[in-house]
Amino acid sequence: MNKPYSAAVDRNKDPIYQVVKQYFLQNKLLLEIGSGTGQHAVYLAEKFSSLDWVTSDVEENHNGIKEWLKDAKLKNIKGPETFKVGIDDFPKKSFDYVFTANTLHIMSWKENKTLFKLLGKRLREGALTFIYGPFNFGGNFTSDSNEEFDKLLKDRDPKSGIRNFEDVSKAMSAAGFKLLKDYEMPSNNRLLVFERLPH
Ligand SMILES: C[S@@+](CC[C@H](N)C(=O)[O-])C[C@H]1O[C@@H](n2cnc3c(N)ncnc32)[C@H](O)[C@@H]1O
Repeated sequence: MNKPYSAAVDRNKDPIYQVVKQYFLQNKLLLEIGSGTGQHAVYLAEKFSSLDWVTSDVEENHNGIKEWLKDAKLKNIKGPETFKVGIDDFPKKSFDYVFTANTLHIMSWKENKTLFKLLGKRLREGALTFIYGPFNFGGNFTSDSNEEFDKLLKDRDPKSGIRNFEDVSKAMSAAGFKLLKDYEMPSNNRLLVFERLPH
């Protein structure tokens, strides 16, 4: 099988690394949700050699992820686990970090809310969640290209679409998280960092 490839990941993986390296510690366990091709896992796990990075996605993407993991030969990448938000149980481990890139605008808002509730239920105090992707602010697109992208998404699936930063922050707050930081990223993307508050 030809390895699936995302040019966007090649562009955003290092800017993401520049942010997460301020937070990631060694000897921790991370769950990635919606690993896609597996490129973020391969790039980032290589930089944090004793952080265990567990990939996950819907089953259709597993073969592609496995190809990337096979070639990368990194001992600290696990999975892929089958985790489709809204269908599957949250993987049964105690994760220190959750990382997810470009997934909220693909999932329906109902699935978004399910995900936030699961994170609140399953993460312990101090655990961090990193959410990368495009967001609207005050209901407004941050660029013409994001507005066009949103139209494309909705043509394909009316339940998809760029999420409002405020809606996500509010729902994460209701699930027990505090927003630590909202990073502006290249190409009109953001990287949101949330911390689980005491239960
Ligand atoms: C646009 S891709 C992003 C993939 C990768 N994270 C990246 O940044 O290139 C969206 C990903 O979300 C996954 N996804 C969609 N719906 C999902 C759900 N309900 N639960 C978990 N993952 C989902 C897809 O399978 C896909 O891997």
